[in-house]
Amino acid sequence: MVQNDVMEYLHSLGQIFDKEIEKTIPRDRKPWEVYGVLWDFLDRGGKRFRPAMAKLSYEAVGGKAADEDAIVVPVGAAIEMFHNFTLIHDDIEDDSEMRRGKPTLHRAYGIPLAINAGDGLFMMVWEALLKAKLPPAKLFEVQHVLSSAFRRVLEGQAIELNWYREKKFDISEELYFRMVEGKTGALISASCEAGALMAGATEEQLDALRNFGMVVGIAFQVQDDVLNLAGSEAKYGKEIGGDISEGKRSLITIHALAHAPPKDKKRLSEILSSRTKDQAQVREAIDICKRTDSIHYAAQTAKSMVETAKGRLMVLPNNAASRRLLQLADFFIYREV
Ligand code: IPE
Ligand code: IPE
Ligand code: MG
Ligand code: MG
Repeated sequence: MVQNDVMEYLHSLGQIFDKEIEKTIPRDRKPWEVYGVLWDFLDRGGKRFRPAMAKLSYEAVGGKAADEDAIVVPVGAAIEMFHNFTLIHDDIEDDSEMRRGKPTLHRAYGIPLAINAGDGLFMMVWEALLKAKLPPAKLFEVQHVLSSAFRRVLEGQAIELNWYREKKFDISEELYFRMVEGKTGALISASCEAGALMAGATEEQLDALRNFGMVVGIAFQVQDDVLNLAGSEAKYGKEIGGDISEGKRSLITIHALAHAPPKDKKRLSEILSSRTKDQAQVREAIDICKRTDSIHYAAQTAKSMVETAKGRLMVLPNNAASRRLLQLADFFIYREV
Protein backbone atom coordinates (compact mmCIF):
# COMPACT_ATOMS: atom_id res chain seq x y z
CA MET A 1 0.00 0.00 0.00
CA VAL A 2 1.28 3.43 -0.98
CA GLN A 3 0.10 4.88 2.36
CA ASN A 4 2.04 2.45 4.54
CA ASP A 5 5.10 2.65 2.35
CA VAL A 6 5.15 6.45 2.52
CA MET A 7 4.53 6.43 6.27
CA GLU A 8 7.46 4.07 6.80
CA TYR A 9 9.68 6.17 4.60
CA LEU A 10 8.72 9.38 6.42
CA HIS A 11 9.21 7.71 9.77
CA SER A 12 12.75 6.61 9.01
CA LEU A 13 13.73 10.02 7.62
CA GLY A 14 12.01 11.69 10.55
CA GLN A 15 14.48 10.10 12.94
CA ILE A 16 17.36 11.76 11.11
CA PHE A 17 15.74 15.19 11.36
CA ASP A 18 14.78 14.63 15.01
CA LYS A 19 18.42 13.88 15.88
CA GLU A 20 19.39 17.11 14.20
CA ILE A 21 16.73 19.02 16.16
CA GLU A 22 18.29 17.60 19.34
CA LYS A 23 21.53 19.42 18.49
CA THR A 24 19.72 22.75 18.78
CA ILE A 25 17.32 21.72 21.56
CA PRO A 26 19.19 19.25 23.81
CA ARG A 27 16.70 17.02 25.62
CA ASP A 28 18.18 17.59 29.05
CA ARG A 29 18.53 21.35 28.74
CA LYS A 30 17.00 23.40 31.56
CA PRO A 31 14.57 24.89 32.24
CA TRP A 32 12.09 22.09 31.73
CA GLU A 33 9.42 24.78 31.31
CA VAL A 34 10.83 25.45 27.83
CA TYR A 35 12.65 22.32 26.69
CA GLY A 36 10.59 19.68 28.49
CA VAL A 37 7.41 21.23 27.16
CA LEU A 38 8.83 21.37 23.63
CA TRP A 39 9.98 17.76 23.67
CA ASP A 40 6.57 16.65 24.88
CA PHE A 41 5.28 18.18 21.67
CA LEU A 42 8.06 17.02 19.32
CA ASP A 43 8.02 13.47 20.68
CA ARG A 44 4.39 13.02 19.70
CA GLY A 45 5.61 12.41 16.20
CA GLY A 46 4.03 14.27 13.34
CA LYS A 47 4.56 13.25 9.76
CA ARG A 48 7.78 15.23 9.20
CA PHE A 49 6.99 15.46 5.50
CA ARG A 50 8.21 19.03 4.98
CA PRO A 51 11.90 18.25 5.64
CA ALA A 52 11.46 15.06 3.61
CA MET A 53 10.30 17.19 0.68
CA ALA A 54 13.36 19.42 1.03
CA LYS A 55 15.61 16.36 0.93
CA LEU A 56 13.76 14.80 -2.00
CA SER A 57 13.81 18.06 -3.96
CA TYR A 58 17.56 18.28 -3.38
CA GLU A 59 18.08 14.73 -4.60
CA ALA A 60 15.62 15.03 -7.49
CA VAL A 61 17.72 17.74 -9.16
CA GLY A 62 21.01 15.95 -8.56
CA GLY A 63 22.25 17.37 -5.25
CA LYS A 64 25.40 15.64 -3.97
CA ALA A 65 24.57 12.81 -1.56
CA ALA A 66 27.83 13.36 0.33
CA ASP A 67 26.75 16.88 1.37
CA GLU A 68 23.26 16.00 2.57
CA ASP A 69 24.05 15.53 6.24
CA ALA A 70 25.90 18.82 6.43
CA ILE A 71 23.39 20.99 4.57
CA VAL A 72 20.00 19.40 3.88
CA VAL A 73 19.51 17.88 7.32
CA PRO A 74 20.01 21.16 9.27
CA VAL A 75 17.82 23.11 6.86
CA GLY A 76 15.13 20.39 7.04
CA ALA A 77 15.30 20.45 10.84
CA ALA A 78 14.82 24.24 10.82
CA ILE A 79 11.78 23.86 8.57
CA GLU A 80 10.24 21.21 10.82
CA MET A 81 10.89 23.38 13.88
CA PHE A 82 9.11 26.31 12.28
CA HIS A 83 6.17 24.06 11.40
CA ASN A 84 5.90 22.86 15.01
CA PHE A 85 6.02 26.43 16.25
CA THR A 86 3.05 27.29 14.00
CA LEU A 87 1.07 24.33 15.33
CA ILE A 88 1.59 25.32 18.98
CA HIS A 89 0.44 28.87 18.38
CA ASP A 90 -2.29 27.85 15.93
CA ASP A 91 -3.88 25.58 18.53
CA ILE A 92 -4.13 28.52 20.93
CA GLU A 93 -5.55 30.75 18.18
CA ASP A 94 -8.09 28.10 17.18
CA ASP A 95 -8.92 26.96 20.74
CA SER A 96 -8.19 23.36 19.66
CA GLU A 97 -8.27 20.46 22.08
CA MET A 98 -6.18 17.74 20.50
CA ARG A 99 -2.95 17.60 18.53
CA ARG A 100 -1.15 14.45 17.48
CA GLY A 101 -3.49 12.36 19.59
CA LYS A 102 -2.92 14.24 22.86
CA PRO A 103 -4.21 17.41 24.52
CA THR A 104 -2.87 20.50 22.74
CA LEU A 105 0.12 22.06 24.45
CA HIS A 106 -1.88 24.92 25.97
CA ARG A 107 -4.48 22.48 27.30
CA ALA A 108 -1.71 20.47 28.90
CA TYR A 109 0.44 23.29 30.33
CA GLY A 110 -1.65 26.47 30.05
CA ILE A 111 -1.58 29.26 27.47
CA PRO A 112 1.37 31.26 28.91
CA LEU A 113 3.84 28.35 28.82
CA ALA A 114 2.61 27.22 25.41
CA ILE A 115 3.08 30.68 23.89
CA ASN A 116 6.53 30.90 25.42
CA ALA A 117 7.57 27.45 24.21
CA GLY A 118 6.35 28.35 20.71
CA ASP A 119 8.34 31.58 20.78
CA GLY A 120 11.42 29.65 21.85
CA LEU A 121 11.00 27.18 19.03
CA PHE A 122 10.69 29.96 16.49
CA MET A 123 13.90 31.60 17.72
CA MET A 124 15.77 28.31 17.63
CA VAL A 125 14.79 27.85 13.97
CA TRP A 126 17.51 30.35 13.10
CA GLU A 127 20.08 28.58 15.28
CA ALA A 128 19.31 25.31 13.51
CA LEU A 129 19.63 26.97 10.12
CA LEU A 130 23.06 28.38 10.94
CA LYS A 131 24.33 24.82 11.43
CA ALA A 132 24.02 24.27 7.66
CA LYS A 133 27.50 24.17 6.14
CA LEU A 134 26.61 26.25 3.13
CA PRO A 135 28.67 29.01 1.52
CA PRO A 136 27.42 32.31 3.04
CA ALA A 137 25.82 33.52 -0.20
CA LYS A 138 23.83 30.28 -0.55
CA LEU A 139 22.82 30.32 3.10
CA PHE A 140 21.56 33.85 2.58
CA GLU A 141 19.43 32.70 -0.36
CA VAL A 142 17.97 29.82 1.64
CA GLN A 143 17.28 32.13 4.57
CA HIS A 144 15.51 34.51 2.22
CA VAL A 145 13.28 31.74 0.85
CA LEU A 146 12.40 30.59 4.36
CA SER A 147 11.81 33.99 5.91
CA SER A 148 9.52 35.00 3.00
CA ALA A 149 7.58 31.79 3.50
CA PHE A 150 7.31 32.35 7.26
CA ARG A 151 5.93 35.82 6.61
CA ARG A 152 3.33 34.41 4.21
CA VAL A 153 2.26 31.81 6.76
CA LEU A 154 1.58 34.51 9.33
CA GLU A 155 -0.27 36.60 6.75
CA GLY A 156 -2.48 33.63 5.83
CA GLN A 157 -3.18 32.90 9.47
CA ALA A 158 -4.12 36.54 10.10
CA ILE A 159 -6.50 36.66 7.13
CA GLU A 160 -8.28 33.54 8.36
CA LEU A 161 -8.45 34.70 11.98
CA ASN A 162 -9.87 38.04 10.93
CA TRP A 163 -12.74 36.30 9.10
CA TYR A 164 -13.82 34.99 12.49
CA ARG A 165 -13.36 38.34 14.19
CA GLU A 166 -15.49 40.09 11.58
CA LYS A 167 -17.98 37.20 11.38
CA LYS A 168 -17.37 37.19 7.64
CA PHE A 169 -19.04 34.43 5.65
CA ASP A 170 -19.17 35.74 2.08
CA ILE A 171 -15.81 34.28 1.15
CA SER A 172 -15.23 33.32 -2.46
CA GLU A 173 -13.22 30.22 -3.30
CA GLU A 174 -10.63 32.51 -4.82
CA LEU A 175 -10.18 34.40 -1.56
CA TYR A 176 -10.11 31.13 0.35
CA PHE A 177 -7.34 29.72 -1.85
CA ARG A 178 -5.32 32.91 -1.43
CA MET A 179 -5.50 32.49 2.34
CA VAL A 180 -4.45 28.81 2.15
CA GLU A 181 -1.56 29.64 -0.16
CA GLY A 182 -0.21 31.59 2.79
CA LYS A 183 -1.06 29.58 5.86
CA THR A 184 -0.21 26.15 4.41
CA GLY A 185 1.11 26.31 0.84
CA ALA A 186 3.96 28.75 1.43
CA LEU A 187 5.97 26.55 3.82
CA ILE A 188 5.53 23.37 1.75
CA SER A 189 6.53 25.26 -1.39
CA ALA A 190 9.55 26.76 0.39
CA SER A 191 10.61 23.30 1.61
CA CYS A 192 10.85 22.13 -2.00
CA GLU A 193 12.44 25.34 -3.20
CA ALA A 194 15.08 25.40 -0.46
CA GLY A 195 16.05 21.79 -1.20
CA ALA A 196 16.39 22.49 -4.91
CA LEU A 197 18.28 25.72 -4.29
CA MET A 198 20.92 23.94 -2.19
CA ALA A 199 21.45 21.44 -4.99
CA GLY A 200 22.09 24.18 -7.54
CA ALA A 201 18.88 23.58 -9.51
CA THR A 202 18.17 25.41 -12.78
CA GLU A 203 15.53 28.18 -12.83
CA GLU A 204 13.14 25.82 -14.60
CA GLN A 205 13.59 23.15 -11.93
CA LEU A 206 13.22 25.70 -9.14
CA ASP A 207 9.98 26.99 -10.67
CA ALA A 208 8.63 23.47 -11.06
CA LEU A 209 9.37 22.45 -7.48
CA ARG A 210 8.18 25.73 -5.98
CA ASN A 211 4.94 25.39 -7.88
CA PHE A 212 4.54 21.68 -7.13
CA GLY A 213 4.97 22.39 -3.40
CA MET A 214 2.42 25.17 -3.47
CA VAL A 215 -0.27 23.17 -5.28
CA VAL A 216 0.19 19.95 -3.27
CA GLY A 217 0.34 22.12 -0.14
CA ILE A 218 -3.06 23.62 -0.84
CA ALA A 219 -4.45 20.17 -1.67
CA PHE A 220 -2.99 18.89 1.61
CA GLN A 221 -4.92 21.53 3.56
CA VAL A 222 -8.17 20.86 1.67
CA GLN A 223 -7.84 17.14 2.40
CA ASP A 224 -6.98 17.90 6.02
CA ASP A 225 -10.28 19.74 6.34
CA VAL A 226 -12.05 16.74 4.76
CA LEU A 227 -10.50 14.45 7.38
CA ASN A 228 -11.55 16.88 10.11
CA LEU A 229 -15.20 16.24 9.28
CA ALA A 230 -15.08 12.72 7.88
CA GLY A 231 -11.95 11.05 9.27
CA SER A 232 -11.18 8.74 12.16
CA GLU A 233 -10.09 10.56 15.32
CA ALA A 234 -7.72 7.76 16.36
CA LYS A 235 -5.73 8.13 13.12
CA TYR A 236 -6.17 11.85 12.47
CA GLY A 237 -5.10 12.81 16.00
CA LYS A 238 -7.26 15.97 16.19
CA GLU A 239 -10.86 16.24 17.35
CA ILE A 240 -13.33 15.32 14.59
CA GLY A 241 -15.62 18.27 13.90
CA GLY A 242 -13.15 20.64 15.58
CA ASP A 243 -13.26 22.83 12.47
CA ILE A 244 -17.00 23.38 13.01
CA SER A 245 -16.44 24.50 16.63
CA GLU A 246 -13.65 26.73 15.37
CA GLY A 247 -16.03 28.26 12.83
CA LYS A 248 -13.62 27.42 10.03
CA ARG A 249 -14.33 28.75 6.57
CA SER A 250 -12.96 25.69 4.79
CA LEU A 251 -13.57 24.79 1.16
CA ILE A 252 -16.28 22.49 2.55
CA THR A 253 -18.20 25.07 4.56
CA ILE A 254 -17.78 27.71 1.84
CA HIS A 255 -19.25 25.29 -0.71
CA ALA A 256 -22.04 24.26 1.66
CA LEU A 257 -22.98 27.89 2.40
CA ALA A 258 -23.13 28.59 -1.33
CA HIS A 259 -25.26 25.54 -2.16
CA ALA A 260 -27.47 24.85 0.86
CA PRO A 261 -31.15 25.90 0.87
CA PRO A 262 -31.70 29.20 2.78
CA LYS A 263 -32.80 27.48 6.01
CA ASP A 264 -29.71 25.23 6.15
CA LYS A 265 -27.44 28.10 5.16
CA LYS A 266 -28.76 30.19 8.05
CA ARG A 267 -28.36 27.30 10.49
CA LEU A 268 -24.82 26.49 9.31
CA SER A 269 -23.67 30.09 9.73
CA GLU A 270 -25.31 30.21 13.17
CA ILE A 271 -23.47 27.10 14.32
CA LEU A 272 -20.15 28.27 12.85
CA SER A 273 -20.50 31.69 14.50
CA SER A 274 -21.37 30.25 17.90
CA ARG A 275 -18.07 28.33 18.25
CA THR A 276 -20.04 25.63 20.00
CA LYS A 277 -18.47 22.38 21.13
CA ASP A 278 -21.91 20.80 21.55
CA GLN A 279 -21.64 17.54 19.62
CA ALA A 280 -25.27 17.50 18.47
CA GLN A 281 -24.83 20.90 16.83
CA VAL A 282 -21.47 19.95 15.34
CA ARG A 283 -23.16 16.86 13.85
CA GLU A 284 -25.99 19.00 12.50
CA ALA A 285 -23.49 21.24 10.71
CA ILE A 286 -21.64 18.23 9.26
CA ASP A 287 -24.96 16.83 8.05
CA ILE A 288 -25.71 20.07 6.23
CA CYS A 289 -22.29 19.83 4.52
CA LYS A 290 -23.08 16.25 3.55
CA ARG A 291 -26.46 17.16 2.04
CA THR A 292 -24.76 19.68 -0.28
CA ASP A 293 -22.12 17.05 -1.14
CA SER A 294 -19.50 19.55 -0.03
CA ILE A 295 -17.15 17.06 1.63
CA HIS A 296 -17.03 15.07 -1.57
CA TYR A 297 -16.56 18.26 -3.59
CA ALA A 298 -13.54 19.25 -1.48
CA ALA A 299 -12.00 15.77 -1.69
CA GLN A 300 -12.38 15.82 -5.48
CA THR A 301 -10.85 19.28 -5.66
CA ALA A 302 -7.82 18.09 -3.66
CA LYS A 303 -7.45 15.10 -6.00
CA SER A 304 -7.50 17.18 -9.13
CA MET A 305 -5.01 19.66 -7.66
CA VAL A 306 -2.63 16.80 -6.91
CA GLU A 307 -2.88 15.66 -10.53
CA THR A 308 -2.06 19.20 -11.72
CA ALA A 309 0.86 19.41 -9.29
CA LYS A 310 2.31 16.09 -10.42
CA GLY A 311 2.36 17.37 -13.98
CA ARG A 312 4.74 20.14 -12.90
CA LEU A 313 7.43 17.57 -12.12
CA MET A 314 7.66 16.37 -15.72
CA VAL A 315 10.64 18.67 -16.24
CA LEU A 316 12.65 16.88 -13.53
CA PRO A 317 14.93 13.90 -14.18
CA ASN A 318 13.12 10.61 -13.65
CA ASN A 319 14.93 9.28 -10.59
CA ALA A 320 14.10 7.67 -7.23
CA ALA A 321 13.63 11.05 -5.52
CA SER A 322 11.33 12.57 -8.13
CA ARG A 323 9.25 9.37 -8.09
CA ARG A 324 9.04 9.62 -4.29
CA LEU A 325 7.78 13.18 -4.59
CA LEU A 326 4.98 11.95 -6.86
CA GLN A 327 4.14 9.24 -4.34
CA LEU A 328 4.09 11.78 -1.53
CA ALA A 329 1.65 13.91 -3.53
CA ASP A 330 -0.71 10.93 -3.75
CA PHE A 331 -0.24 10.20 -0.07
CA PHE A 332 -1.55 13.67 0.72
CA ILE A 333 -4.98 12.82 -0.65
CA TYR A 334 -5.17 9.13 0.34
CA ARG A 335 -3.86 9.53 3.89
CA GLU A 336 -5.96 9.17 7.03
CA VAL A 337 -3.31 10.63 9.36
C1 IPE B 1 -1.02 20.20 10.20
O1 IPE B 1 0.11 19.79 9.51
C2 IPE B 1 -1.36 21.58 9.82
C3 IPE B 1 -1.92 21.70 8.48
C4 IPE B 1 -1.29 22.32 7.55
C5 IPE B 1 -3.22 21.16 8.20
P1 IPE B 1 0.63 18.29 9.51
O2 IPE B 1 -0.52 17.37 9.23
O3 IPE B 1 1.80 18.19 8.66
O4 IPE B 1 1.02 18.08 11.03
P2 IPE B 1 1.96 16.98 11.69
O5 IPE B 1 3.31 17.59 11.77
O6 IPE B 1 1.93 15.75 10.87
O7 IPE B 1 1.37 16.79 13.06
C1 IPE C 1 -2.88 25.03 9.49
O1 IPE C 1 -3.81 25.59 10.27
C2 IPE C 1 -1.74 25.99 9.17
C3 IPE C 1 -0.88 26.38 10.27
C4 IPE C 1 -0.83 25.80 11.43
C5 IPE C 1 0.01 27.50 10.04
P1 IPE C 1 -5.21 24.87 10.61
O2 IPE C 1 -5.70 25.51 11.85
O3 IPE C 1 -6.06 24.89 9.43
O4 IPE C 1 -4.76 23.36 10.86
P2 IPE C 1 -5.15 22.34 11.98
O5 IPE C 1 -6.46 21.76 11.60
O6 IPE C 1 -5.22 23.07 13.28
O7 IPE C 1 -4.05 21.32 11.97
MG1 MG D 1 -5.86 24.87 13.77
MG1 MG E 1 -5.79 27.57 12.26
